[in-house]
Amino acid sequence: MADESEPTERSDSPADYSADQLNELLMFGSPATRRQFLKQIAGTSAAVTLGPALLRFGNAEGQTLPATTAAADGAAIPFRLKINGTEHQVSLDPRTTLLDALREHLDLTGSKKGCDHGQCGACTVLVNDRRINSCLSLAIMHEGDEITTIEGIAQGEQLHPVQQAFIEQDGFQCGYCTPGQICSAVACIKEGHVKSDAEIREWMSGNLCRCGAYPNIVAAIKEATAALPA
Ligand code: FES
Ligand code: FES
Repeated sequence: MADESEPTERSDSPADYSADQLNELLMFGSPATRRQFLKQIAGTSAAVTLGPALLRFGNAEGQTLPATTAAADGAAIPFRLKINGTEHQVSLDPRTTLLDALREHLDLTGSKKGCDHGQCGACTVLVNDRRINSCLSLAIMHEGDEITTIEGIAQGEQLHPVQQAFIEQDGFQCGYCTPGQICSAVACIKEGHVKSDAEIREWMSGNLCRCGAYPNIVAAIKEATAALPA
């Protein structure tokens, strides 16, 4: 029996597609391509996305459960996170974001939750020296990674040059975006995206500031760049 949800094999004209099918055609080329894409996602990509901690999850009898089962029932899974040089043993629902793990479970509340949708950058942390939006990343994916939050930027009592420059250049007003701005600025300088004001603005554009402290933030990044070894 023909599958009524998709065009028949003989129908290869876009004119024969419904609106939904046309959308799929635009995204994936053809229904066959879409099916292939979904198969790949369900297989290899899922293994990469879910990470080693989730894939080794087992039940009480020691049997390994499919990763999808573990994720679906929300059972807590034990794993380790290395944050600011310290190993933390956690046991969390695999759907917990890195931001929630930091704030709600590890009392590291420096990273802020602004939009929780990857749009404001308030939650920016460094993972293996690269900046990410921690609200968009599952904590369980980061077992084995070096995670640095705003609490780990300074060297003891010695502020990081970026932190010092934010103070000297008055790079914040309410301060809500500041932890994310500073983490992002540290990576931005390491990346070398600081050759001009325009380049700094472009590469810091993922970090929004509702107070509009942008000119001071750019000035702080320039000052910190000059203070850091090349
Ligand atoms: Fe993560 Fe806004 S809270 S980007
Ligand atoms: Fe207030 Fe940036 S200092 S949001």
